[in-house]
Amino acid sequence: MKVYSESEQIREHISRWKSNKDKIVLVSTMGHLHKGHASLIELAKSLGQCVVVSIFVNPLQFNQESDFAHYPRTLDTDIAQLQALNVDAVFTPHTESLYPHGIQSAPKILIPELTEEFDGRFRPGHFEGVCTIVCKLFNILTPDVAVFGNKDYQQLLIIRRMVNELNFHINIVAGKTEREADGLAMSSRNTHLSPKQRELAHHLYSNLERVKKQFSIETISLLETSAYSHLEKHSMRVEYFNIRDAINLQPISDSTREIVVLAAAWLGETRLIDNILFPMP
Ligand code: PAF
Repeated sequence: MKVYSESEQIREHISRWKSNKDKIVLVSTMGHLHKGHASLIELAKSLGQCVVVSIFVNPLQFNQESDFAHYPRTLDTDIAQLQALNVDAVFTPHTESLYPHGIQSAPKILIPELTEEFDGRFRPGHFEGVCTIVCKLFNILTPDVAVFGNKDYQQLLIIRRMVNELNFHINIVAGKTEREADGLAMSSRNTHLSPKQRELAHHLYSNLERVKKQFSIETISLLETSAYSHLEKHSMRVEYFNIRDAINLQPISDSTREIVVLAAAWLGETRLIDNILFPMP
């Protein structure tokens, strides 16, 4: 497994693979790898011959400097894990090479329809920063396929739309959310939870599951408001908990075929997000 931090060098390596007609599959990450990433990598291995993992904590997508500063960085253990997972190449670019004119001058890609609500509303500028970095990684690494987790469902839809709007010839594949035994979605941020908060954290997913079970029995607004009050009772500060059409994130309508319930809540200083998908009954 080769680790590159220079774009030119990994480009050269990738062009050799491409001349052999090998399919390149990208898993982009911000590091602090866990089982959720491992399952995206296993999926990536089944989709092509060469798996490239990028590790870059992208300053442009953090709307709070303290969040960026505290984001866990564990490069050495990440690289050891990637080696054990038989990844073909790792890309760990430097900030200055990705943003040669500084963060403030970086171009931002807007996908207005899908970014107004949810994380787009509560983390202003976040998705513009995600789109910019993903676009840069796509241009440098030229993957045939890129895998993104379903856990960041709004991000997944936005990246799909960006690929479509900007004519990237890249197949976007969604990987399933890995969960702890109590249902908590795996996330690099879970390490910030205190033992007491960790005990409460499963309530986010149990409320999503409750909506799925009760969908045909209760109204949408009752399902949403009772999730809010249940979560707040368990010390969570809810940012959003909404039942939407999974294709476009709009309210449920007659044309809805699949439903997504999107949720974000704070437990102390830690922000958790999660979702559940299910077909319209
Ligand atoms: O989902 C993430 O970890 C990040 O948003 C991504 C896609 C790696 C871009 O920095």
